[in-house]
Amino acid sequence: MDRPPVCDYEGSDYRQRFWQGQGRDYEDLSERLALRRLMPPAGDTLIDIGAGFGRLADEYNGYRRVVLFDFSRSLLREAQSHLGSDPRFIYVAGNWYQMPFVSGLFETMVQVRTIHHAADVPALFGQLARIACPSGVYVLEFASKHHLKAILRYWTGRQRWSPFQHQPVEFIELNFDFHPVWIRRQLQTAGFNPGRMLTVSHYRIPFLKKIIPAALLAQLDGLAQLTGEWWQLSPSVFLYSQANGLGRPAEPGTFFACPECGTPLGDEDAGIFECALHGCQRRWQVKNGIYDFKDPL
Ligand SMILES: C[S@@+](CC[C@H](N)C(=O)[O-])C[C@H]1O[C@@H](n2cnc3c(N)ncnc32)[C@H](O)[C@@H]1O
Repeated sequence: MDRPPVCDYEGSDYRQRFWQGQGRDYEDLSERLALRRLMPPAGDTLIDIGAGFGRLADEYNGYRRVVLFDFSRSLLREAQSHLGSDPRFIYVAGNWYQMPFVSGLFETMVQVRTIHHAADVPALFGQLARIACPSGVYVLEFASKHHLKAILRYWTGRQRWSPFQHQPVEFIELNFDFHPVWIRRQLQTAGFNPGRMLTVSHYRIPFLKKIIPAALLAQLDGLAQLTGEWWQLSPSVFLYSQANGLGRPAEPGTFFACPECGTPLGDEDAGIFECALHGCQRRWQVKNGIYDFKDPL
């Protein structure tokens, strides 16, 4: 079966190129504000899907087990190097179309600045609905195609695609913008009940970012975020959803599952998990603290 393509960040300098000293403190602060408003502050098990170098990891202090999940081993190593040996963090390399976890596991799932790389959103949401516990919370940030700049560009003929059409737009290869209505519909189909919406990064305008300190601009954004319930005209949207309660919680003591066949994995032995399903028996490695479910041994 063909797998959807993946935007591969292996070896990328994402942190240095995009965040470090790049004038994005305002975006970072605004996103944290929205996350704190929507995410339950404490709990047992949380997963950050597409966690990258762990930018938001310090927002998860109230959780007992925090999975930082990403396709890029090198970004996970970067996360390890700045988060140190805090035993709450579990670093897992894998593909979000084949989640290596048992069903019904996570109380809270967070996904920020990553779904724009998803060529197959229904497949991704299907996996997330499976690994969420029955009343699990999913906080998703997505890049919206229905934002003011796109609308103005469209009306003045400087943009061909319509921000009003619900279908996603791939503006460059493996980079999509989504319509809020379409995202909500896909979530419902997958088994989530989408709820509160916050619009974020209203003031992502170079001139304003230059003259207004980032912390103040983020506070102002915090006020504007609340309008997300009524209209969405910002480039970034945060959406709270809850699993529809029809699934079953994970069996106590289970955690990882074979990403190929879904069989729950037993304990690791000398850094190796072996799938017990006859006919699969794939082996997965734990190396230097990273649970690697990208390729079997
Ligand atoms: C723009 S970065 C965002 C990182 C982080 N969420 C943040 O906000 O700083 C996108 C991340 O999504 C990850 N990613 C893309 N496709 C993926 C996939 N199919 N499975 C797992 N991670 C994926 C990339 O490796 C990358 O780290």
